[in-house]
Amino acid sequence: MISWPSPINPWDSRWILHTVLDLRHSRHYTSAESLRLNRKAAQGLGIGIMTSEQNIIDRSYMRRALELAVSARGRTSPNPMVGAVLVKDGRVVGEGFHAFAGSDHAECVAVRDAQGQARGATLYVNLEPCCHYGKTPPCVELIIGAGVSRVVAACQDPNPAVNGKGIEALQAAGIGVEVGCLADEAARLNEAFFTHMQLGRPFVLMKVASSLDGKIATRTGESRWITGESARQHVHRLRNMVDGVLVGIGTILRDDPMLTTRLGIEDQRDPARIIVDNLARLPLRAKVINRASTAPTYIAVSAMAPPARLEALEREQVQIIRVEDSPRRVSLARLLQTLAKMGLLSVMIEGGAEIYASALKEGVVDKVLMFLAPILVGGKSSASAVAGEGIDTFSQAVRLADVRIERFDSDILVEGYIRGQQQAP
Ligand SMILES: NC(=O)c1ccc[n+]([C@@H]2O[C@H](COP(=O)([O-])OP(=O)(O)OC[C@H]3O[C@@H](n4cnc5c(N)ncnc54)[C@H](OP(=O)(O)O)[C@@H]3O)[C@@H](O)[C@H]2O)c1
Repeated sequence: MISWPSPINPWDSRWILHTVLDLRHSRHYTSAESLRLNRKAAQGLGIGIMTSEQNIIDRSYMRRALELAVSARGRTSPNPMVGAVLVKDGRVVGEGFHAFAGSDHAECVAVRDAQGQARGATLYVNLEPCCHYGKTPPCVELIIGAGVSRVVAACQDPNPAVNGKGIEALQAAGIGVEVGCLADEAARLNEAFFTHMQLGRPFVLMKVASSLDGKIATRTGESRWITGESARQHVHRLRNMVDGVLVGIGTILRDDPMLTTRLGIEDQRDPARIIVDNLARLPLRAKVINRASTAPTYIAVSAMAPPARLEALEREQVQIIRVEDSPRRVSLARLLQTLAKMGLLSVMIEGGAEIYASALKEGVVDKVLMFLAPILVGGKSSASAVAGEGIDTFSQAVRLADVRIERFDSDILVEGYIRGQQQAP
């Protein structure tokens, strides 16, 4: 059975389409309308239990806040995606979202959009409002000052500077606060931000293109192209959303990829390119060193990397990441911690087989995206998707959860989450 993308999948490009349509057509629902729409949606989904009309109304406006939030996907790092909706007398009076790091927070945009009508309104926001001075002043002060009477937040902010304190400050000002409306969807939407906050590393996607028999290259090392145009376009959409793409030096030496976003749209942007390269073997003319790109190229090296090579690469604008505690071989876990400190919330690993194996072994993969092309390659010496030592029993296999399947012409994308610690592949 093919399951279509759920609207809470933050990596699904259809979110954007959905959002654009909604922005155009659904700005002012009355509460009766939203109630009707939600009942219909609930029936369609087979959801029978709704605790109260208010609950249904709250979910409707929270969904709108989530839609607004996701319209800035891939642009807010190191901040989360946040959307806010102000509702008064059953009518939306203000909306907003956080567009990019350093810009106004969603609550602020919504209050401004309400043009003085926020007094007595309910604020729907997918993350607890902040209470600290960052690049912008605390949102709670603005919310209190604007006279908002009720705040419905989807979830608490995991940022220790906020984490419950925003809610307390609102309550102390006499504002009714409810937390938990569409909490799962909100957490999924900001899974990269939550991972960054809670684990101190970016959310890691492992993207593989393989034949049906699990091969990522032929016996001569050819790997282009395994999948068709439509699947490859989706990879460009993913690159447009993630903060970084990471590959091993083996892939660079074999394929010389550019690792840029090539969607042909105006507001596309490249992710940072990170090459894991113990000895700094990256050729000075590699395509991944792209001065025209909007994003930097990094190489992550071990303590063994020859200084002369590093200097030569630096002259080509390559930025060096010396990975701590990596005397001979780069520790991916350590590298990811460094990338998190540099503000990257999400990284997509794009190969090759050895890097996939190391990432799984080090337990740093959160989500696998496996594009399967309907071809059989065969050959004992053709690379399989994941190298490493392998396992003895299937009980040791890395198992995916929340599996979803999507088709791209004749290719199939199987994606799923890895929960907890992975086993060695
Ligand atoms: N179909 C696909 O989706 C896909 C995607 C990418 C690549 N590929 C194919 O995969 C092949 C390349 O894969 P590969 O396995 O040979 O190379 P790779 O995984 O791209 O790179 C492996 C190399 O990275 C360096 N490295 C540094 N730290 C490492 C660590 N912690 N773990 C693992 N490696 C580390 C090592 O070289 P040093 O010791 O020299 O640093 C190692 O030999 C090519 O044929 C390519 O076409 C296919």
